[in-house]
Amino acid sequence: MADKTFRYPGDALTITYDLARCIHAAECVRGLPAVFDPDRTPWIDPDAADADAIAAVIHRCPTGALHYTRHDGGPPEPVPTRNTVRVVQGGPLFARGRLVLTTEQGETRLEETRMALCRCGASQNKPFCDNSHQHLDWDDAGTLGTSPLPEGPADADDADGEPLRITPATDGPLLLQGPVTLLSDDETTAVHGRKAALCRCGGSHNKPFCDGSHRTVGFRSDAAG
Ligand code: SF4
Ligand code: FES
Repeated sequence: MADKTFRYPGDALTITYDLARCIHAAECVRGLPAVFDPDRTPWIDPDAADADAIAAVIHRCPTGALHYTRHDGGPPEPVPTRNTVRVVQGGPLFARGRLVLTTEQGETRLEETRMALCRCGASQNKPFCDNSHQHLDWDDAGTLGTSPLPEGPADADDADGEPLRITPATDGPLLLQGPVTLLSDDETTAVHGRKAALCRCGGSHNKPFCDGSHRTVGFRSDAAG
């Protein structure tokens, strides 16, 4: 789990950017091109827009690569009241909420509000997505397969501050524990539960759920993830 975090201090807020977790989804560039300009050095100018507008765009960053700290008295980053995991078509899992990434021994590795998690098996920065899926012959519809969890409205389940614990199992799935809503890519289908094992080897025949295929495809997670 590499940490390549850069700081961009401004008058009203300081923006931090974790290069290793950016998958160039470009929400930031589309949202505020004056602040986020990849053709400029430095590429982030924290004084080029109003602090509230910058905060709103950073909340849209799906990976958690961008964060900010306000020093103008403005509100801190909000923690979403629901824990959601959206299954991106042909791409990663976008998790949002009060997220705690843990080791199998239960130690906290990271507390976050946004993560993009690899589910093709090829990332070099596991458990995070690094866009490796784009270089593979790998695709998936971003639907919810045959779900062991019950369906319900997409906006149900307020987690009420309870965290979602995400544990990458060695050579196996991502284990979720805590209140969570899984969403299809188009967010038309949602299932709710407190426990799930999600495929991260890319080989399950019932994506996004693990069906044990990681054993037959010989999936190996690396030491860090
Ligand atoms: S929105 Fe986040 S993931 Fe997307 S390009 Fe910006 S920093 Fe990277
Ligand atoms: S992790 Fe892919 S099938 Fe179990």
